[in-house]
Amino acid sequence: MTETIAIDLGGRSYDVIVGEGALEAARPHSVFRSERRFAILVDAHVAQLHAKKITAALAGISLAGEAIEIPDGERAKSFGQLETVLGRMLDCGLERGDAVLAIGGGVTGDLAGLAAALYKRGIDVIQIPTTLLSMADSSVGGKTAINMPQGKNLVGVFHQPSLVIADLAFLSTLPGRQMKAGYAEIIKAALIGDADMFTDLEASKGPDHLQAHLKTAIAFKAKIVAADEREAGSRALLNLGHTFGHALESEAAGQLLHGEAVAAGMALAFDYSARLGLCPEADAKRVGGHLQRTGLETRLSALPGAPFSAESMLERMRHDKKNSGGAIRLVLARGIGNAFIHDQTDPADLLNFLKDQIQ
Ligand code: GLY
Repeated sequence: MTETIAIDLGGRSYDVIVGEGALEAARPHSVFRSERRFAILVDAHVAQLHAKKITAALAGISLAGEAIEIPDGERAKSFGQLETVLGRMLDCGLERGDAVLAIGGGVTGDLAGLAAALYKRGIDVIQIPTTLLSMADSSVGGKTAINMPQGKNLVGVFHQPSLVIADLAFLSTLPGRQMKAGYAEIIKAALIGDADMFTDLEASKGPDHLQAHLKTAIAFKAKIVAADEREAGSRALLNLGHTFGHALESEAAGQLLHGEAVAAGMALAFDYSARLGLCPEADAKRVGGHLQRTGLETRLSALPGAPFSAESMLERMRHDKKNSGGAIRLVLARGIGNAFIHDQTDPADLLNFLKDQIQ
């Protein structure tokens, strides 16, 4: 059974269809109108694993050329790959009324979303996430980006999709490590603003009742995006764990999945909040405990990519794109379900905290 969540952006609202068989269920949607042609940008691995399902579900739509395969991994989010994709789209003769279907995880969604935003000054993109992480977070809300040597997602634009189709059937082939990493983004929604959801997640001991939890996480994000589409304020809360997490991810040079880095980053955000006396110790312990029980490592010394350098991490955090006026901006918490944006981070104190955590 599929369910639909509306992302309410006034005149530009769109739906997220979630559930097993969502791709087939979405076909009558008006985005698939018959006069339109589609360029498929698909993760190379997903194309191999799910060719039959994708071909059957999309039978009858008018394709603009062969599917364009996106290589796996963050390295695909580059200027070179963006140029290749845009060139292929031009060669297909895609017009402004046509659309891109982005089928894959966060890397494919970010790159395809940016290509769609730039192509002939912007064409529609339909996001079809195939990983739990991209279903729970990156496919919804219109963030697109490529990476730079200086850090992740530093070049990009907001380009909202016209539809998101989160078909749980794609998860049947997702490796366990990726499932756990995606689950981190579901936990994130609870930690930011829904203490009851966190209690439910603890009771379900991990990724049970997946569709319900996923739907709650998407609905939570929908509210935040509707209130602050371009991250002028409260949307920054969705970066809980990300400032620490991006630093870890960059330092680990490809050995950590994004969700793994965010999980460790969320534990750090809660521990740092407790150290500053902003959050009860017991809440920070509960967060770390749940992440560990779910198989998400929170001890920095045990993470792939360890040992980390506190100085290098701090340097990366100084370049985070949320920072303002030269100060490091962190998302911290007053407790589970009560995250807030903290602008007065003292770099020397943060460095000492990181050193303590790394030992
Ligand atoms: N991934 C955080 C956001 O979409 O704002």
